[in-house]
Amino acid sequence: MAIVIDPATRADLEERIRFYRDLGLTEFYRRPVDEALLQKLQAAAAAEPVAVAASVATEPAAAPPVAAAPHPLVSSPHNPMYEESAIPPRKPFPAAPEIGVVVPPAERAQALQIIRDEIGDCKRCALHAGRNKLVFADGDPNARLMFVGEGPGADEDMQGLPFVGKAGQLLNNMITAMGLKREQVYIANVVKCRPPQNRTPEPDEAHTCVPFLFRQIDVVRPQVLVALGATAATYLLGQRQPLAGLRGRVHAFRGTQLIVTYHPAFLLRDPRQKKEAWADLQIAMRELGLKLPGK
Ligand code: URA
Repeated sequence: MAIVIDPATRADLEERIRFYRDLGLTEFYRRPVDEALLQKLQAAAAAEPVAVAASVATEPAAAPPVAAAPHPLVSSPHNPMYEESAIPPRKPFPAAPEIGVVVPPAERAQALQIIRDEIGDCKRCALHAGRNKLVFADGDPNARLMFVGEGPGADEDMQGLPFVGKAGQLLNNMITAMGLKREQVYIANVVKCRPPQNRTPEPDEAHTCVPFLFRQIDVVRPQVLVALGATAATYLLGQRQPLAGLRGRVHAFRGTQLIVTYHPAFLLRDPRQKKEAWADLQIAMRELGLKLPGK
């Protein structure tokens, strides 16, 4: 039976899931629904509160003790009603493509254009259906620093450029704080088309699109690559791991130094984490030989 969720609850749930996702908690599962209990709860919710109270009051005094059977809503490994038998096995990540040959700096813009042309009017995954503009990338083909986000949002979809909305403004500020200009870096995403309602890209969508991102990385060959958020880190490194375990250090990746930090959209929701993100960016600055503040 389909569960109907009112729009406000749905929005709250989506916001909460985004928050967990930004923290690097990307795996969720639903407990099996107890249909009988669900029907009972829905019927109770639909009834007058007075009537529900009355029905509780008229429970026979000799009802079996509640403690004898675990309540189906109690989440506990000791509750046999919540066996997690339905969690699907994780699909392994496809192997990353071989690293491409080094493209001379003067030919990088043209090499990127070849990738863009190959993508064409892409219909390789379902995301194309809701797309306004495909968002390929922005910035310097010879950048020493590259940022990878998750996927276009509404503003990016309208303009065909990555990180041009509110999260983009914060990213611009982060770049400025590093002593650089946006035009000096290269910016791309895991997926090139906007997922509906800005949801996380599905694995098949990300796996379809990410080989083009790998090729862009191989052409630009930045010295430092910054993964913004859990989705970027997951599909670049090819492993699901909470962000906490990936941040704060340098990962060797396709000939570049990969640094993982929070997604700017997450920082807009939880500005207290900006200090942590700044610490990550300072690692990037150190790798690039940029002047650190106060040094
Ligand atoms: N968020 C992303 O991950 N990428 C964008 O381009 C914009 C917002």
